[in-house]
Amino acid sequence: MKYKRILLKLSGEALMGSKGFGIDQQRLMEYAHEIKSVYEAGCQVAIVIGGGNIFRGIQAEKGGMDRVHGDYMGMLATVINSMAIQSALEGLGVQTRLQSAIKMEQICEPFIRRKAVRHLEKGRVVIFGAGTGNPYFTTDTAGVLRAIEIEANVVLKGTRVDGIYTADPEKDKNATKYEKLSFKEAYEKNLNIMDMTAFTLCEENNLPIIVFDMNKKDNLKNLVVGEKIGTLVEV
Ligand code: GTP
Repeated sequence: MKYKRILLKLSGEALMGSKGFGIDQQRLMEYAHEIKSVYEAGCQVAIVIGGGNIFRGIQAEKGGMDRVHGDYMGMLATVINSMAIQSALEGLGVQTRLQSAIKMEQICEPFIRRKAVRHLEKGRVVIFGAGTGNPYFTTDTAGVLRAIEIEANVVLKGTRVDGIYTADPEKDKNATKYEKLSFKEAYEKNLNIMDMTAFTLCEENNLPIIVFDMNKKDNLKNLVVGEKIGTLVEV
């Protein structure tokens, strides 16, 4: 196995499937099966999921809501998605623990780094909810931060496209995919892989990112065993 401990970053929107809002049960189960397969292969899995299928802080601000207020609502949305993933995984017999950056002890554990690492060592999938617990940070940043804290080998950013392209492949037919990029190239080419806070954190801590298509069956498992899938960004 190439990566022993991964941080899987999923977008909330991905959970919508073909629905316009909320959680598509079928998509949720597909993801749970993908995660189960890497877990069964013996990989230590931590997950951070966004909340955009339920609430987006930035858009709420455009509608006149206070940004900080909106961001906290977004953090709560990530907890809902985390609970959904937790429940789907446990339904498949995968042991999990959910930790939240904002305390809600009736629902889940608080985020405690050392406990999270212990859970991983004991073979539990650990899901981190509520982002970083702070406004003005994205869930990408939360994912990278947690990855560094738990000393994950890689951040796997699951998306709808199979990597990073020279242009948006959904708009430009001539766009070509990068197999590999350095952080410097990504800055120079102005490629929007993650927000700058998340991206710089990765670079400074020598944490590679792989952007890949999470909707393609077995992609996650094949990636973890070392197949070249998606686009790798590294120092
Ligand atoms: P080990 O002691 O390392 O084996 O970990 P453990 O998670 O099994 O032990 P613990 O006794 O801490 O937790 C037992 C169960 O209670 C697990 O399902 C935890 O997720 C849950 N749990 C632990 N702390 C909290 C909390 O603060 N709030 C909630 N809601 N659940 C918790």
